[in-house]
Amino acid sequence: MSPMNQELLDQAAEWTRAADRIAVLTGAGVSAESGVPTFRASDGLWEGHRIEEVATPFGFAENPELVWNFYKLRRANLRKVRPNPGHHALAKLESEWDGRFTLITQNVDGLHRAAGNANLLELHGNIRRTRCPNCGDLRDQGLTELPALPECQLCGSMIRPDIVWFGEMLDPEVWTSAEEAADQCDLFFVVGTSAVVYPAAGLISLAKSNSQRAKVIEVNMTETEASRQADIGLYGPSGEVLPALCERLGLTLNLVNPD
Ligand code: OAD
Ligand code: ZN
Repeated sequence: MSPMNQELLDQAAEWTRAADRIAVLTGAGVSAESGVPTFRASDGLWEGHRIEEVATPFGFAENPELVWNFYKLRRANLRKVRPNPGHHALAKLESEWDGRFTLITQNVDGLHRAAGNANLLELHGNIRRTRCPNCGDLRDQGLTELPALPECQLCGSMIRPDIVWFGEMLDPEVWTSAEEAADQCDLFFVVGTSAVVYPAAGLISLAKSNSQRAKVIEVNMTETEASRQADIGLYGPSGEVLPALCERLGLTLNLVNPD
């Protein structure tokens, strides 16, 4: 990190130490250093696909095989990845702020849970789970290899990844809990997200305008749509910035990953 950031990091550590309730919103950037590609490449494509093709209910209705192939490739990639120090730092903060820390993620990769975060709200679902549109059966499939067009074990219908696609509603319970966390915190971190996808990005202004006027700290490689709402911007890889913050708080990270 540049020397200029050191002062900001000290300030961020001071606010964190003083925080009563912390909420964190993460996005794909927090998993980048684990080897999970982020979404918005400069060409606007996701690994060569248009968003409408692979991340909307219409895309799935049109070509379920293509959509399943896309998610199966992502599932296969996840077999090789492990949480990085950024994930571990967030797990450490949860254990220190026990019961007063909520991690809200847009990621579907399951790496926050693998790092040990338990008070976790997965706004966009989880790529390990499948859902049956016919009977509603939800199933944790782990990262096992699935058939070309996986079927429901209960009713035989074609199942889908349990991911919230564009044009779909978030799980109302998960969303309500996320709103509560943003509404009740006095410190809000925005980590590794371009903050362009709603309603998730709306949690930032919710936190900022809550009764405590929560402070907002952004951690990202670059400025984003969230930057103008941030009281502090820490620009660098989250796998370095978050551990540096923990270090200033005197917290030692457990970097061991279970296999
Ligand atoms: P994006 O791909 O839009 O943004 C990734 C962000 O991470 C960018 O702002 C990068 O600058 C930042 N970044 C990259 N590497 C980083 C690093 N090492 N440390 C810190 N920051 C880093 O991903 P999201 O904002 O998560 O939804 O996208 C939000 C949603 O859009 C996703 O959940 C997904 C997508 O469509 C669904 O699949 C429904
Ligand atoms: Zn079914």
